[in-house]
Formats: sequence, C-alpha cells, structure tokens
Amino acid sequence: MRQFKKIAMSHQNHKLATRLIHAGITPDPSTGAIMTPIYQTSTYVQNAPGDHKGYEYARTQNPTRTVLQNALASIENGKFALCFGSGMAATDAVAKLLMPGDEVIVANDLYGGTYRIFTKIFANYGIRFHFIDMSRPENIKGYLNDKTKMIWAETPTNPLLNIVDIAGVAAIAKANNLTLVVDNTFASPYLQNPLDHGADIVLHSATKYLGGHSDVVHGALIMNDAGLEERLRFIQNSCGAVPGPHDAWLVLRGIKTLHVRMQRHCENGATIAKWLRAHPKVDKVFWCGFEDHPNHEVAKKQMRDFGGMISFTLKNDSVEAANEVLKKTQLFSLAESLGGVESLIGHPATMTHASIPREDRIKNGLVDSLIRLSVGIEDVEDLINDLQQAIG
Ligand SMILES: Cc1ncc(COP(=O)(O)O)c(C=O)c1O
Repeated sequence: MRQFKKIAMSHQNHKLATRLIHAGITPDPSTGAIMTPIYQTSTYVQNAPGDHKGYEYARTQNPTRTVLQNALASIENGKFALCFGSGMAATDAVAKLLMPGDEVIVANDLYGGTYRIFTKIFANYGIRFHFIDMSRPENIKGYLNDKTKMIWAETPTNPLLNIVDIAGVAAIAKANNLTLVVDNTFASPYLQNPLDHGADIVLHSATKYLGGHSDVVHGALIMNDAGLEERLRFIQNSCGAVPGPHDAWLVLRGIKTLHVRMQRHCENGATIAKWLRAHPKVDKVFWCGFEDHPNHEVAKKQMRDFGGMISFTLKNDSVEAANEVLKKTQLFSLAESLGGVESLIGHPATMTHASIPREDRIKNGLVDSLIRLSVGIEDVEDLINDLQQAIG
C-alpha cells in the first residue's frame, strides 16, 4: 500500500489549538482520507484465530473511537482516554471501581444526574457517599476514614459555578491514597486540565462543549495511570456502555473547533454576566470571573478564562417569576444541556436538578428562581436584547 506523507506524530509539543485539530489523527491508511472515517462495523475479519489488525469486536475496539480516545488524551494532557455512550456511562464506569463498604466524598454542588446515580443506584450496592461543601479543601478532612476510596468534584460546579481548588484537593487525595475524579465538563480542556493539577481521572460529558453542536450524547474519561486505565478499559468492555462510531466521529469533529468556540463563549459570557449584575430585577449572579466570587483567585490559578456558564436569581425568588423569564426568551432556547453553539436557558430546580429533594436543593443554594444560562456564540448584543425583553 502507498505510504502517506503525514505519519503518526506526537503532538505533545504543540500548543492546544494545534492539538485540537491534529492530535491522534492520521490519514486513513486505506484511502488517505484526511478525516477519520466512521468505521460502521460490528466485527473485523481475522486471517487466522488471533491473527488480526488489532481489532476483534466493535464493543472492545473501534478505529473511529481509537482516534478520538487518542485525541482526548492529548488535549487533556493525559496518557489514556476511554469513550462511553454518555457522560453518565462514564460516571457509572468510574463508580464501578468501588466495592461495597467503600466511601466517597463528593462536592455537594454537582450535576443532578451524578447525585442520582450515586444515591439511587450505587448507594444500594453498599457504597456510601458524603456530599460536602468542597469550596475549601480542608472541609474534606472531617469525612476521611479508612473506608474512603475516592473524592469526586466538579469545577466549576453545575449550576452554582462554585470553584473547587483541584491542587488543594489533590494534595489531600494523594496523602490519603484516594482517587480524585474531576468532572471537567463545564470548563472543557480549553479552560482547564485537571490532570495537571493532580487529578487522577478527568470526566467529560462530551455531549457539551467537546461535541459543541448539541447533536450527540457522549462521555469520556482521561487518565495518566496505566493500571487505572486497564481497570476502566476492562469495565468499558465488560459493561459495554460504548459509543457508536458515528457519535465518536461527531465529537472528533467538534473538538477541532473547541478553541475558537470557547473563546467566544468566554467573551459573550463575561459581557452577559456583567450586564445581568447591573439589572434591577436580578438578585445574585453566579460566574467565576467576578473578582468578588469567593474562589475567583483559585479560578484564576487553575483556569485560563471563565467560560460561558452563568446562573442568576431574581429579586422575586419564585418558580413563577423564573417561569415568566423562561417562557419569554426567544434566542435562548429553554432546554436541558449546555455547551452548544446556540444559547440555552434552563431552570435547575425543575429541570437538570429536579432529582435533588427541594430541602437539599435550597440548602445548597439552588433556590426556586435560579436560572442557568449556557451562553452560546451568537452576537452578544442580540443575546442581551433577548434577555432584556424576557426579564423586563
Ligand atoms: C457536569 C455534568 N457531568 C455529567 C453529565 C452527564 O452527561 P450526559 O448527559 O452526557 O450523560 C452532565 C449532563 O448534563 C453534566 O452537566
């Protein structure tokens, strides 16, 4: 077969923008196609038993998925990546590292589905989860005991945009031989690389910024430790929550523009956060780019910018008042999810976080009028005009 000039090269010396486009990618060996083909196959022909090209069965390996896994490992500054059928499937795989009796310390402000899988599924298998305020790493210490195996954090958190000090938590995890998992969905690798700050596993709902176009559900894990990768790869194959090749391809295409999309998400996010803060009907605005955000200094230390996720409450703190705003926006579509090029608006109390009991929700600051914005990359003036007519 003809050899193609562009051969597999290590892109680790390249900057992120270059790696987002090239890492893990080589022209397709059979045709030279510059874009990775969608290998829509369930199995691979062997010359003789065990004599194959590294691919046996598509639950176990798929070439489109392999390319995406290599690309994701590179852009998160990790050695390995594993792809899953959704962010929750990735979460499920990590939780399966645990055994009955094990304990996990979890940041209490986190995606409702993560709370649900821990409390409604894995708690039934005898695993204990402590949901705590992780805005100060020292808070973890009171919950450590010899059964603790894992620490789980999201940063920035969903939906209150709290910041967890990854390096601070990682120091406690290392000292106590615990696995630190960081859900990096909100930040994306453009803004933050948790492995660089000491995390053991980075989790993504690639449905969000990595995919970037609201057209795919996908999850990923990235790590440096070969033993951990082997255990998680075993779970990936044994439990089988793998993505199809077309979905892997969509994420692969999405990440090629992550940097340009994120730059605009951040610019629009900053403008809208400041505008909301000055609005007379708005009470609190949650965005980690404000200098008076309680963990702004930590955000500056571990993030490259502050992103396009913003939450705010209304002075009239009621579900009804929030509903009025949600009903009126036109460019901001009322929908779950985030991280796409188009702006979305949501009501955590009744949508993404409805699985959290009201009492717990309010205790953690998720009040009735809280509205979450995923600021897209449209013209920011149009977005502000839309919010203005909706909030009044
Ligand atoms: C921070 C975070 N983690 C995990 C998930 C779950 O991902 P998925 O919806 O792809 O299963 C979500 C989904 O909204 C999320 O926002």
